Amino acid sequence: MKEKPNTGLVETKRKKVAEGLVKLLANNSVLYLKTHNFHWNVVGPMFQPLHSVFETQYIDLWNAGDTIAERVRALGFHVPASYADFSKLSKIKEVVGIRQVKAKDMISQLVHDNEVMTRIARELLPETEGADDQVSVDLLSDRMEVHEKNAWMLRSFLE
Ligand SMILES: [Fe+2]
Repeated sequence: MKEKPNTGLVETKRKKVAEGLVKLLANNSVLYLKTHNFHWNVVGPMFQPLHSVFETQYIDLWNAGDTIAERVRALGFHVPASYADFSKLSKIKEVVGIRQVKAKDMISQLVHDNEVMTRIARELLPETEGADDQVSVDLLSDRMEVHEKNAWMLRSFLE
C-alpha cells in the first residue's frame, strides 16, 4: 500500500496547498524560460546590464522551480513537468517564435510577470495558512519577496 505523509497536515488541505504550488510552479517555469529567452535575445545600448540582470533572475527562477516542485513532492503529490502542462496552467504567457522584442518591452513584460507571480503567491497564502503549513507559507513569502524585488529593479530601468 502507498504510504501517505503523516506530518500533522489535514489531507484535503494538504492537497489544496499542493495544487496551489503546482500553479505557482507552472507560472515560475514559464517565467524562467521567458527571462532566459530575454537574456539571450536582448539588444540595444542597455544590452550589458539587462543581459546581466536577466541572468540573475533566470538562475533564481530555475532554483525556485526545484524548491517549489520538491515541496509538492514532500506534501505527497506528483508534479507536472512539461511545457505543454505548464503553459495550460500558467497565466504568464511565453514569447513564441523568433521575434525581436524591444528591450523596453522585455522590461515591461517582466515587471508585469513578476507582479503576477507576487499576486499568485499572495492569493495562495490564506489557504496555506489555514492548512497550518508553515513551510509552504515561508516558501510563498520568500517568493513574494524575490518577485517584488525583481519588479522594482526592472521598473527602475524604465524611469
Ligand atoms: Fe548566458
